[in-house]
Amino acid sequence: MSDPRLRRIVVVGTGTGVGKTRVTLALARALRRQAPTVALKPVESGEGGDASAFDADNSVRVTPHPCVALRAALSPHLAARLESQVFHVRALVDWVENCERALAIYDAISPYIYSLVETAGGALSPLSPEARNLDLAVALDPAVVVLVAPDGLGVLHGLSATLIALRALGRPPDVVALSAAWTDASTGTNAGELRLLGIADPAFVLGPGEADAEPLAQAVIAAFRR
Ligand SMILES: Nc1ncnc2c1ncn2[C@@H]1O[C@H](COP(=O)(O)OP(=O)(O)O)[C@@H](O)[C@H]1O
Ligand SMILES: [Mg+2]
Repeated sequence: MSDPRLRRIVVVGTGTGVGKTRVTLALARALRRQAPTVALKPVESGEGGDASAFDADNSVRVTPHPCVALRAALSPHLAARLESQVFHVRALVDWVENCERALAIYDAISPYIYSLVETAGGALSPLSPEARNLDLAVALDPAVVVLVAPDGLGVLHGLSATLIALRALGRPPDVVALSAAWTDASTGTNAGELRLLGIADPAFVLGPGEADAEPLAQAVIAAFRR
C-alpha cells in the first residue's frame, strides 16, 4: 500500500517540446518549499536530459533514472522496437512506487510527500503497441493530472483536440498549464483566449524565461482537496 501522505502529480502534454519538463521543474521547486518532492521521468528517448535535470534538484537519489532509457529520439514505442526493448506500464508503475517509497523513508515526518511524473511526448503518444501515456497516467491514479500546452500559436487547436480526446477517453486533466516553449505574436494572449472561447481555464502560465510556479503549486494543492 502506498504512503497515505503521498500526493502524486502526473504531467502530460499536448505534444513534445511544449514545456512539460520546464513546468515540472518549476512545480517541483515550488512544492519542495512545502514538503519533500521527487520529480520522475519513467521513459526517456533520445538525449533529452529530463531525468538528469530532475536529479539535480531531487530530494532523494533516483536510480535508475529514467526507468526506461531509449537511445533514439523517437516515439518510445518505435525507439523501443528498434532496440528490441519491451516494457509494460505495470513495470513503470512499480518503478514510480519504489521511488516514492524511497522518498517516504527519507522523510517520515512531513505531513505530505510529493511525486511528479513527467510522461514522454504527448498524452496520446504510444509508449508501446498496447499503451499510451494516458494509460500510464490512468495506471498512476489516484493522482492530479496536469496538462501542459504551449503559450504559442497552435495551442487553441492543440489544447481543444487534447481535451476532447482525454474527456472521451474518460480521464480529463485536473489542471491545465501553459508554458512559453516558443514565443510568437500569440504568446501572452492564449490563456485569455482559451477562457473566452470556453476551451479551457488555464490555472497558470509559465512566461518566457520564468522558473517560478508557486500559483501552479497552489492550484495543484487545491486539486488534491477536491
Ligand atoms: N516558459 C518557458 N520559457 C522559456 N523557455 C521555455 C519555457 N517553456 C519551455 N521552454 C523551452 O522550450 C523547450 C521545450 O520545453 P520542455 O520543457 O523541454 O518541453 P517537453 O518536456 O514538453 O518536451 C526547452 O528548450 C525549454 O527550455
Ligand atoms: Mg520533457
